[in-house]
Amino acid sequence: MCGIVGYIGKRQAAPIILDGLSKLEYRGYDSAGMAVFDGEKIHMEKEVGRLKVLENLTRGGETMKGVLGIGHTRWATHGTPSCVNSHPHLNREGTIAVVHNGIIENYITLRKLLQEKGYEFVSETDTEVLPHLLDYYYRKKGTPLAAISSLINRVEGSYALGILFADHPDVMYAVRKDSPLVVGKCPDGAMIASDVPALLKYTRTVYYPDNQEIAQLREDGVKFFSLDEEEQEKESVTIDWDADAAEKAGYEHFMLKEIYEQPRAVVNTISPRIKDDEIVIDELKMTDEELAGVRRIHIVACGSAYHAGVTGKYVIESLARIPVEVDVASEFRYRNPILAEGSMVVVISQSGETADTLAALRESKARGFRVLGIVNVVGSSIAREADSVMYTWAGPEIAVATTKAYSAQLAALYLLAVKLGRVQGRIGDGDYREMLSDLRSLSTQIELLLGQKEKIQKFANRYVGARDIFFIGRGIDYAISLEGSLKLKEISYVHSEAYAAGELKHGTISLIEEGTLVVAVATQPDLYQKTLSNIVEVKSRGAFVMAVTGEDNREMEKAADYVIYLPQIKPCFANSLAIVPLQLFGYYVAVGKGCDIDKPRNLAKSVTVE
Ligand code: F6R
Repeated sequence: MCGIVGYIGKRQAAPIILDGLSKLEYRGYDSAGMAVFDGEKIHMEKEVGRLKVLENLTRGGETMKGVLGIGHTRWATHGTPSCVNSHPHLNREGTIAVVHNGIIENYITLRKLLQEKGYEFVSETDTEVLPHLLDYYYRKKGTPLAAISSLINRVEGSYALGILFADHPDVMYAVRKDSPLVVGKCPDGAMIASDVPALLKYTRTVYYPDNQEIAQLREDGVKFFSLDEEEQEKESVTIDWDADAAEKAGYEHFMLKEIYEQPRAVVNTISPRIKDDEIVIDELKMTDEELAGVRRIHIVACGSAYHAGVTGKYVIESLARIPVEVDVASEFRYRNPILAEGSMVVVISQSGETADTLAALRESKARGFRVLGIVNVVGSSIAREADSVMYTWAGPEIAVATTKAYSAQLAALYLLAVKLGRVQGRIGDGDYREMLSDLRSLSTQIELLLGQKEKIQKFANRYVGARDIFFIGRGIDYAISLEGSLKLKEISYVHSEAYAAGELKHGTISLIEEGTLVVAVATQPDLYQKTLSNIVEVKSRGAFVMAVTGEDNREMEKAADYVIYLPQIKPCFANSLAIVPLQLFGYYVAVGKGCDIDKPRNLAKSVTVE
């Protein structure tokens, strides 16, 4: 969603804020703004459009003098993208400035109350209640800390806030609830940001504030306070990502770079968890006996993470014979799910901040169930609230469309499936050895597939003008189809649907016309023949078929018009290979159409609202 950055220190704040915001642009991009204390008053600039517009307006921040400031890139929720709706928002005198990521749920009530007290509103946003409410409490209580703490008690919803008080130009405040916020201690000052990439150039020493904990930043240090204004002890965390983790490193887009980082993401997720030819997942905090007692698994996630969960269901059910239910988090939280004794809940999230997934986690915990989080962002809300966390070591993912985090999620789920299968007595010694060997070689296999980039690019160029593209597959191949179809449509805006191959003829086949592209995924040898029959069905209605299949399935050449072969792998892990050509296909169709690959329209990387 939106991105916030703030700086206080010895250097000019605005250029640092702009630089930080540029690393967060993937979060929100319909308008941007900054407020800087210029020595006398708060000076504000806001513009509709990309960050570039604000950069040009302020000559890279040069025109905004001052060493204390906050900035924001907005992804509109309440009110259209416009200058007046963009952040920062101010109180009437312009002495309090606020940037906000999240949603104030009771803003209508608060707005009415404040209007009755004479406060006037200029924007349509939920955020504007915040500077007015702060103004109200500041007048009443006398200190910024007391005002913020009273505000927190009145406001419902989610927020990460950066706050300036003109009366206190040597300090910046920040606070969060259910929206991400990182506080950094730099050699020459301190910073806040919605995500670590914005801070990396300036510091590696960061703090993750807890919900409703107030951060007080000064040039010489950072302090944290509870709601009752008691100072809190807080440990800093050292970020060890390499410096170019948040840079494109010569690639045209972050998405392509991240596709290429998949072998590393997979190896980093798998290797530390295979020790002396055994899968060891200490982070589960469960003994083998406890794992052997798991009777049902509920996987809950959104979007691509949900698609990884669908693959997880097939793999866990096949290897461990434990029934798995997979839910979209926004459905799970409201459907009063039946969680029986012996159930394990697994939530999957790259960002660790997705509002619906977090709510599903809380719902499960409230019912007394242990929750395992499969999470990529260290210190994120889901990582902190889950009972145990299995990190996917994909590194920072910048492109809105996930690729390497999805691949790392698959890798984590495979480890879990094999571990469960082993402790539940379903996997014998020989199969276990073979599975470990396949898991170890997964990253090399993915690397091999990346070598087919040119071929896929040429093929994708033919479909730049496509109106509809269908993806079909059975079993695990259906799970891959869901993800392949999402990758294509979210970045290229080509309409696409994924269907269980046997289901197409129950309706959707009527959409197949002469030349419609159907991507058929067939990685499961026991289902080759069945999927071949479905290919014949669509071809006889005029479809052009691209197939992705195992290298042993040469028969495919007779049925499909274009075939991509995958290296040999155990079928239960084939998703990790099949997804690579589909990601590249979606990517190159979008490149051919001139789309904004890393920041597709209407989407945000981290969805912190319901
Ligand atoms: C698609 C994509 C989204 C996310 C979804 C969940 O490419 O990235 O569908 O997978 O919004 O996000 P996380 O994994 O952060 O919970």
